[in-house]
Amino acid sequence: MKIIRDPGRLNRLLKALSRSGKSIGFVPTMGALHPGHLSLIKQARRDNDTVVVSIFINPAQFGPKEDLNKYPRPLKNDLALCRKARVDLVFLPDSEIMYPEGFCTFVHVEKLANILCGATRPGHFRGVATVVAKLLNIVVPSVLYLGQKDAQQAVIIRRMVSDLNFPVKVKVMPTVREKSGLAMSSRNAYLSEQERGNALVLFRALNLAKVLIRGGAKDTVRIISRVKQLINKHKNVKIDYIAVMDSMNLKPLKRVTGNCLVALAVYIGKTRLIDNILI
Ligand code: PAF
Repeated sequence: MKIIRDPGRLNRLLKALSRSGKSIGFVPTMGALHPGHLSLIKQARRDNDTVVVSIFINPAQFGPKEDLNKYPRPLKNDLALCRKARVDLVFLPDSEIMYPEGFCTFVHVEKLANILCGATRPGHFRGVATVVAKLLNIVVPSVLYLGQKDAQQAVIIRRMVSDLNFPVKVKVMPTVREKSGLAMSSRNAYLSEQERGNALVLFRALNLAKVLIRGGAKDTVRIISRVKQLINKHKNVKIDYIAVMDSMNLKPLKRVTGNCLVALAVYIGKTRLIDNILI
């Protein structure tokens, strides 16, 4: 496994591989790899000749009051996991090379970036879209792998890829969960034992929405109100949002008439967790 820090060097190497007909699967990450990331890497390994993983904690997607400095950085373990998962290349740039002095070009995916998580985290998706656009230009992959856990991020990146004609296929892989139902996330590391217990409410709430919808409930105001009631029974838990929407464009639905995406963001103590379910 090669570790490359220089974007130009990685780009030359990968372009040469592409020219020789090799397919490239790309998994962008911020490190702190968990089974969710590993499922993306496994799929990329199954589908492609070459697998590239980037590990870059992207400062542009953190707000001034967010956890950039606190974000976990278990690099040695991440590299060992990549090696074990037979990753070919790890791209490990630093902030200075990704955002050199004078950097001032950003990608803003209008309408989709300021709602849901974007409403609470202004500028977050601008940072995500910008770094993913940069990474796509550097890696030039055949397939980009993303997790359904970050549903809004996946919709925004799909939109950007389509709007800006990036020549890449986007594959969104199912959320990986602990046995308890808790969705795998690097942020779970912030939870105390008791908060871990409280965090199960996210999965329970989504399951309640599923049971209601499968049972014929259509009115989304009533569905959301039942889900709110369930979550509010827990102490030290605060709802950021609960939404029932079209899974392709994130438009809120008044009535459920077919497939939909139910997504929520909830503070467990100080940690904000997100989860969603496709129904
Ligand atoms: O999902 C993440 O870990 C990040 O948002 C991503 C896609 C790697 C961009 O920094």
